[in-house]
Amino acid sequence: MQTELSNALGVEYAVFGFTPFPAVAAAITRAGGFGVLGAVRYTAPGDLVRDLDWMQEHTEGLPYGLDVVMPAKKVEGVTEADVEAMIPEEHRRYVQAILDKYDVPPLPPGEASGWRITGWMEEVARTQLDVAFDYPIKLLANALGSPPADVIERAHAHGVKVAALAGSPRHARHHKAAGIDIVVAQGYEAGGHTGEIATMVLTPEVVAAVDPLPVLAAGGIGTGEQIAAGLALGAQGVWLGSIWLTTEEADLHSRRLTAKLLAAGPGDTVRSRALTGKPARQLRTAWTDAWDDPSGPGTLPMPLQGLLVAEANSRIQRYETEPLLGTPVGQIVGRMTSERSVQAVFDDLTRGFERAIDRINRIAGRA
Ligand SMILES: Cc1cc2nc3c(=O)[nH]c(=O)nc-3n(C[C@H](O)[C@H](O)[C@H](O)COP(=O)(O)O)c2cc1C
Repeated sequence: MQTELSNALGVEYAVFGFTPFPAVAAAITRAGGFGVLGAVRYTAPGDLVRDLDWMQEHTEGLPYGLDVVMPAKKVEGVTEADVEAMIPEEHRRYVQAILDKYDVPPLPPGEASGWRITGWMEEVARTQLDVAFDYPIKLLANALGSPPADVIERAHAHGVKVAALAGSPRHARHHKAAGIDIVVAQGYEAGGHTGEIATMVLTPEVVAAVDPLPVLAAGGIGTGEQIAAGLALGAQGVWLGSIWLTTEEADLHSRRLTAKLLAAGPGDTVRSRALTGKPARQLRTAWTDAWDDPSGPGTLPMPLQGLLVAEANSRIQRYETEPLLGTPVGQIVGRMTSERSVQAVFDDLTRGFERAIDRINRIAGRA
């Protein structure tokens, strides 16, 4: 399974894996794919140094990348406190009412809420980049829009290719004009922030829109047959996120959440603004239902919603409050039915890919 892009990056398989866990990213790379570590939760540069040091030691000199979240629109001079002050009381009361309804205890004294909006601020992403360019990363990906021109230049000066996620052909054309090297065509099925176009429709449209740039197909890919489909649609590789969440190397910190993922079917996710204020696909829970309830106040725009729910989410995760417990995950969650090593997932992907190719060859009368 080799394409011009996988050859240029020096990987055996054109399978790119996004993950927030260093152990998963390193295992993807060791299995012959291209591991991409999500950096959004690294608000302290020291933590990123620690984990990139670890990645260096566990990737055997093979290539890997980093994914940052640099919003396209920069808001100058606004602090977290300014954003905090913009949150209406009605919304704060609504959060409290949900937590009360499900008896979610407060965090113990001194335990800080884990997830803040700072990881989405350009200053924070820039400090992550200052760290990242000290390591031999081969790819820098950006989630929300094209990174600023100076960041693209800096990456290129370090020999690092730049990728950006696109949910529509319009986004993809914008990335091409900005000087991006690789476009990830991420469909509606995907876990995390998504647009409204399915991968099956989006991939060939993006391939045509940015030709000759390489495109990776993303969203709803979790089997080798789906990899073959993505490549058949013109992609030079595939980009998988959800499938790694239930691997043995993943560190979800919650057995109950892993069990929920393993039990979920393809219809158990929802594209909701509950987490960040922008539509993101995630497990459907009592929490997402509460924010989609027309009798409630509805969600706030990004970044207000993320800040509003940060502490509540930390509490839900800490106490594993079953009905409210969720995570970003895509429709492929239905295929995530057992906890396996990254290598076992990879073996399954490559076997499925071979099966698909054999089948198509038979259909085409070539075998
Ligand atoms: C738990 C989770 C967190 C994600 N966080 C990010 C992120 O921080 N940055 C990013 O570029 N994409 C993020 N994504 C999206 C992935 O990069 C990828 O495009 C998506 O998972 C592909 O679709 P799939 O989930 O169907 O495999 C996330 C996805 C998941 C499941």
